[in-house]
Amino acid sequence: MLTRLLAKGIVATAVGLLAMAGVGQTTPISSDEAHRRAEALLKQMTVEEKVGQMTQYPGIEIPELGSGSGKPDDAIVKGDVGSLVWLNDTKEINRLEHLAVEKSRLHIPLLIGYDVIHGYRTVFPVPLAMASSWDPELEETVQHLAAEDARAAGIQWTFAPMVDIARDARWGRIVEGAGEDPYLGASMAAAQVRGFQGAAIGPKSLLACAKHFAGYGAAEGGRDYDSSYIPEVLLRNVYLVPFHAAEQAGAGSFMSAYMDLNDVPAAGNRWLLHDVLREEWGFKGFVVSDAFAVANLETHGFAADPADAALKAITADLNMDMASQTYIQNLPNLVADGKVTEAQLDAEVLPILEAKYQLGLFENPYVDESKVDAVLNRPEGLELERRVAARSMVLLKNENHTLPLGKNLKKVAVIGPLADSTKAIEGGWNVEGLFGAAGKSHPVTVLAGIKNKLGTDVEVSFVPGAVPSRVYPNMLDSITGNMPQPPPKADEVADWLAKAKTAAANSDVVIAVMGEMASMSSEASSRATLDLPGIQEQMLETVATTGKPIVLVLENGRPLDIRWAAEHVPAILEAWYPGTEGGNAVADVLFGDVNPGGKLPVTWPRAVGQEPIYYNHNLTHEPDDSSTFTSHYWDLESTPLYPFGYGLSYSRFKFANLRLSQDHIKADQATEVEVDVTNAGNVAGDAVAQIYIHQRAGSASRPVRQLKGFRRVALKPSETQTLKFPLGKEELKFWSPATKAWGVEPGAFDVWAGEDSTASLHADLFVSQ
Ligand code: NOJ
Repeated sequence: MLTRLLAKGIVATAVGLLAMAGVGQTTPISSDEAHRRAEALLKQMTVEEKVGQMTQYPGIEIPELGSGSGKPDDAIVKGDVGSLVWLNDTKEINRLEHLAVEKSRLHIPLLIGYDVIHGYRTVFPVPLAMASSWDPELEETVQHLAAEDARAAGIQWTFAPMVDIARDARWGRIVEGAGEDPYLGASMAAAQVRGFQGAAIGPKSLLACAKHFAGYGAAEGGRDYDSSYIPEVLLRNVYLVPFHAAEQAGAGSFMSAYMDLNDVPAAGNRWLLHDVLREEWGFKGFVVSDAFAVANLETHGFAADPADAALKAITADLNMDMASQTYIQNLPNLVADGKVTEAQLDAEVLPILEAKYQLGLFENPYVDESKVDAVLNRPEGLELERRVAARSMVLLKNENHTLPLGKNLKKVAVIGPLADSTKAIEGGWNVEGLFGAAGKSHPVTVLAGIKNKLGTDVEVSFVPGAVPSRVYPNMLDSITGNMPQPPPKADEVADWLAKAKTAAANSDVVIAVMGEMASMSSEASSRATLDLPGIQEQMLETVATTGKPIVLVLENGRPLDIRWAAEHVPAILEAWYPGTEGGNAVADVLFGDVNPGGKLPVTWPRAVGQEPIYYNHNLTHEPDDSSTFTSHYWDLESTPLYPFGYGLSYSRFKFANLRLSQDHIKADQATEVEVDVTNAGNVAGDAVAQIYIHQRAGSASRPVRQLKGFRRVALKPSETQTLKFPLGKEELKFWSPATKAWGVEPGAFDVWAGEDSTASLHADLFVSQ
């Protein structure tokens, strides 16, 4: 074969030939080596082949792209495709890799990208839930397992972690991130990158992609895709922080966001993609646009036509065009016209090739189809999932120790449209449920989990009620077959309410499983209200008239307006979308086999009108104390229903002896915060110790509180642990609009330690020059 290729003058790199021989490399190569190999390959490439590597094709048919889309064979052979998105059929992935490696001139393997956001076949809790665990190490373990699964199935690149800060629960994509806080967000971002990629990008890594760079969560009005206006001071101190953490943890790629950031669409925003990411942070990986975002630079009214869109995107330093084919259709001409230099192309292509070398694709482009199911069905995946799901749940209310429930109940009524919903168990971005092999996972609903826990001696009745309807279908509804239902008619509503009441009256306890259908949160799923949709609240009000104890289990992707329930329902458990084993995990918590320890990664509003609401706001000219001329609403308290960091346990914890190793330090020194945490209850449980600071004065107003340390610890009854947290330059610095730089400013700081963002245990810290 080699002789034939040489005779044809088609000389692939030695590494490419190894790939064709299927010779494997199992350990990471150094980034220098990847660079050397990529440069050597680059020298052999034509302009078209370079642009091909910058082009990501859709692996499914996209009607807007014409009937040829979803059939990339010819383009792959021609060298017009470097990567594929939305394809997770292993057999097809292998077939296309064979085409690329064996039939394209330079034998460059394809990079297969997919949204492996919270697991593959074993679906883990949605990211907002994972953040509620306040356990980055666990998050790392979870994403490591997801990475192994994905690589086994032929996917080499995930579009995760999503690290957008979200301060507005109307925004549907709040479910995909770690919530509102930059410190927690940064911890979760770095943990995910480590989980996906391992210590270094290598043949076993799933390449991470920090998205959506940047400011997507600040969409005006919480409307997905809408413009974000974020002053630099807020970008630096809040929105960019988790991205920088992902970059420092070694994320191999970034995805630019959809929206205009301060009037410049992110996919064409050179300040973001070049000045900040590459120049300031030294990012060496590559940036992919979000889907169709290069073409949509024209839709934004930023580019005049597709050629201008391609020019603006490459000028902004965007390496890869996802799905729109604007690069492949325009960049070769722009180079021919001298508007784009070949050196520019080289700079964009190199990091893509380097990633392919680092991932070992040249040596091992194919996967063994016969082994996929064995990996994806590993029992340890489900065991981990059940543990993680329970660890991510947040107990919001537990009056009179309603929970945990005893197992000696005779009759349980389960009500609510989500109680037996598999979709609401697994949530959005379900790899196999979306475009692929639906039916291969076996999600355990809450109803099933309760039955599993209680066995057949306990009578479990079930009244679902009507599924919430909504005004506009979600763009994914037609793909998932999850089309909105018409609203129920008045007689149907009356019938459901009567049935729910009867079931409640005939039971010892009512477990209501309510919230939002999975398709109501995630992309293009913003909401103008945060109400419990449909007839759910009516059902709750009706069953409450029976006087039976009610436990409300919430499955949702954002905080909801649950004021009625918070007042009238004795116990509320936030389960989010908990993943494949979610129903069993809910039962573990409800019946006391697991003591809940999750904490809110978002401030929980009373009503939608409070949005955006977040704990780390500034003090303002007149901080709210409920008197007239202070910052508050005329018709609603400005405090949240539940604060950031909040969550109950079946135990009680005491925080005491807050002390600093030094309470006077210099700006370049560090002190250590120490606090004693005691389990004052009579069951073992987890506390999450949280450290907050506030700088009293400086060159800019500083937030009332900022999280600067946390740790989840397991404590036996009466056990005390002394926890230590560093407070130094990293924690005390901020980006000042006065100096346009990061720095620690001398002055007085408040330090608090406790169970949530309202912690009262306080110490003073003084920082001098
Ligand atoms: C659009 C979404 O905004 C992004 O998060 C996702 O990764 C891509 N599509 C690819 O599916």
